[in-house]
Amino acid sequence: MQYLSNKHVLLGVTGSIAAYKAADLVRRLREAGAEVRVVMTEGAKAFVTPLTFQALSGTPVHDSLLDTEAEAAMGHIELARWADVILVAPASANSLATLAQGRADELLGALCLAADVPLAIAPAMNRQMWADAATQENVRVLAQRGVLFIGPDSGEQACGDVGEGRMSDSETILQRLGELFSTGSLAGQTVVITAGPTREALDPVRYLSNRSSGKMGYAIAAAAVEAGARVILISGPVSLATPQRVSRVDVESAAEMEEAVKAHIENAAIFIATAAVADYRPVLQQQQKIKKHEARLTIELEKTTDILAMVKAQYASTFCVGFAAETHELEQYALGKLEKKRLDMVVANRVGPAAEKTAGTFNSDSNELHVYWKEGGLKLELASKNKLARQLIALVAQRFSLFDATAAKDNNVIAMNKIK
Ligand code: PMT
Repeated sequence: MQYLSNKHVLLGVTGSIAAYKAADLVRRLREAGAEVRVVMTEGAKAFVTPLTFQALSGTPVHDSLLDTEAEAAMGHIELARWADVILVAPASANSLATLAQGRADELLGALCLAADVPLAIAPAMNRQMWADAATQENVRVLAQRGVLFIGPDSGEQACGDVGEGRMSDSETILQRLGELFSTGSLAGQTVVITAGPTREALDPVRYLSNRSSGKMGYAIAAAAVEAGARVILISGPVSLATPQRVSRVDVESAAEMEEAVKAHIENAAIFIATAAVADYRPVLQQQQKIKKHEARLTIELEKTTDILAMVKAQYASTFCVGFAAETHELEQYALGKLEKKRLDMVVANRVGPAAEKTAGTFNSDSNELHVYWKEGGLKLELASKNKLARQLIALVAQRFSLFDATAAKDNNVIAMNKIK
């Protein structure tokens, strides 16, 4: 079984008798953790009703290029941006011709032109149509453009013929689709990631917290798994499902997060601190609910441990990536954290009202990242948190491959001696 946690799969269903098999495919894609949106061609609707796919995918089916209602909600450009991959299954002979010619007279063709994501095609047609020189030429043109062909398989066909042209089974399609996302760049490495907010109790019913939803950290955890890492996700209270193959440790307060990190960091090659950890906690946690007797209430706060700084100080050979959530002076504060906490990489993102493009960043599905390390940096442009997480993990893997853990440890000892 392949894992497609958080992947946005745009499934194009075209006019083939195998269209009914796409219904099972939608179910299997969702079981594998993907979000699925279905686009049907006119031909497909002659075989299966849009209602079937709407019920199975849990979202309305898209079938018209010029639909004013769809444009107001999720129009074709937005749909193209939403997708992480486009899968055309089943792909009829006609749809192969349309895609090879780059035609946009139906929604699916337009989406394939507008989307800058991998395109996978599972053909399904009569064996003679598949073998025809025109179809084979279309396949050659598409394959040359980098399109991934899954199948077709050989066997008995709906028309009674026996030969090549059957759509591959759902399991095979899922397997090949999953391989598209598996990079293996962190194969064999253990990565510890913190995510979400912490809650610092004031009394049995109240706490101090922040707006972090955990979306950024969970997306990074899923991307690290795709890259082949063993991932331990230490999570504050969030309402997100655990990405597949991720070991999740739930915590509530900064102190609990610190303990969980200490318990798991020993064997980690990489630590990524995405969590919005409370910097301060109440000095006293009242055992009973605080009553509103006074006109003013003063709560004394004390600093929490900076978990990230603690990890880098005690485990210098761990490649440490910090985040910086800033309302202003993004670069200045991020570089300050890079230096002060002796990080290997810092990822800055704008938060609050100034982060207009990303709707404040907290709990938003999109983000924009400015990544810095000692010798350089780069900007990861506005995109979904899932997409950015994959780009960030690729960058982390690249920088990690150049990281000299022994030298980092030695340098740290020298630095600590200087401080003494
Ligand atoms: O969860 P989302 O809704 O998707 O939002 C994502 C995010 C905005 C929370 C995320 O992208 C982000 O910026 N996380 C870091 C938030 C933060 O606390 O930043 P900071 O600048 O206050 O902290 C700097 C770094 O030190 C962070 O890596 C933080 O995890 C770490 N830290 C901070 C305090 C502390 N006591 N211990 C820490 O480890």
